[in-house]
Amino acid sequence: MKVLVVGQGGREHVLAWKLAQSPKVTAVFCAPGNAGTAEDVTNVPIAATDVPKLIEFAKSEEIDLTVVGPEAPLVVGVVDEFQKAGLRVFGPSASAARLEGSKEFAKTQMRRANVPTADFHVFEKLADAENFIEERTDEPLVVKADGLAAGKGVSVCETSEEALAAVRAAMADRVFGEAGHRVLIEEKLTGQEASILAIVDGNTILPLEPAQDHKPAHDGDTGPNTGGMGAYSPTPLVTPETMDAVVEDVLVPIVHQMKRDGCIFRGILYAGLMMTNKGPSVLEFNVRFGDPEAQPVLMRLKTDLFDVLWAATEGRLRELPPLEWDPRPAVCVVMASEGYPGPYENGLPIRGLADAATLPDTKVFHAGTRLDGEQVVTDGGRVLGVTALGDNVSDAKLRAYQAVKPIRWDGAWCRKDISDKARESE
Ligand code: AMP
Ligand code: GLY
Repeated sequence: MKVLVVGQGGREHVLAWKLAQSPKVTAVFCAPGNAGTAEDVTNVPIAATDVPKLIEFAKSEEIDLTVVGPEAPLVVGVVDEFQKAGLRVFGPSASAARLEGSKEFAKTQMRRANVPTADFHVFEKLADAENFIEERTDEPLVVKADGLAAGKGVSVCETSEEALAAVRAAMADRVFGEAGHRVLIEEKLTGQEASILAIVDGNTILPLEPAQDHKPAHDGDTGPNTGGMGAYSPTPLVTPETMDAVVEDVLVPIVHQMKRDGCIFRGILYAGLMMTNKGPSVLEFNVRFGDPEAQPVLMRLKTDLFDVLWAATEGRLRELPPLEWDPRPAVCVVMASEGYPGPYENGLPIRGLADAATLPDTKVFHAGTRLDGEQVVTDGGRVLGVTALGDNVSDAKLRAYQAVKPIRWDGAWCRKDISDKARESE
């Protein structure tokens, strides 16, 4: 079988790497991929959102299964177009991908399906949003641009001045472009966050092992929000009881609601959760694997991922035996460019990758890299996801940071405390 992975981040590197391990898979291509996927599989120079070229490639190369990594091509309907062309593809249709593409759609579906989530209001006029905030000066509020904003459209505001500035930036200054045409204002929830991902075939929901991301840039969860500076799996925050509650109260009702509404959900359903004192509450849905959560989660998956994704495209998840997991925890440390999540420089040579690659039970997944001749250079804010398995979380953390040590480029940095929250309860 030949597989095409669409995308170029750390998530796509781990997907390509894992799919290539299947005895059924003879070739894996990654479009456009990065320097890491170039080493493990074959890159194809087609952008992730260039749907006509992707289809042309899949046809000419006789690809058996395409797996779409990022949200942008899903939201514009890459899956619908592949299906129209008679090609097998894993991921949600454009109408199902609205769960991530429109926060208003997601919140409305949650309300209709009775899924626990923060109370919210939608605004299309700046003056209405301003009035709403001015009437609630004593409440912390969260302001969200409705559409996709590369993970940056959310402002958690402690004061009404901050909330007013956030709605003005989104609605008047359009700092997130069209995504800020509509704005949601939510009550602010407190608690620890966890990500629960499941593979869904329209009916059957196969939850994956839980993971915890680290969104703030700096140690101790301080600094600006990022796409994720590291992750580990499993997380003690999600007990088996919590997992059952999330399946029953969140995943099942939303998958059924989507089916009732004629936008059947097939693909990865990712619930970003806040563990509040009243139980888990949904902050957001994503319709694809998390990045960097995919790295530690898939490194622990023992079952053949190809078999599972193939079965999902046939609506046969129910027939599969339970997923098998490596009981050892995995920790992924993201190494980032100087300046990230603000502006940063690309094209800096990365050294020490070969030394890191000699360490056992460790894999350096590439996120923002490319090849400049033979040399691997930086090509993004989040550059590498250094991931290791260990006998316990402390051991996995130690191994991941041992692999970070030899890797260098000008301005490289990482958080030093990835997984400490789990270690506290170990
Ligand atoms: P989102 O893109 O919706 O996941 O939001 C990004 C981050 O903003 C989340 O990971 C949370 O840390 C925070 N956030 C979003 N919604 C809320 C909320 N209602 N209350 C508190 N924090 C939130
Ligand atoms: N790590 C968060 C995300 O993938 O959205």
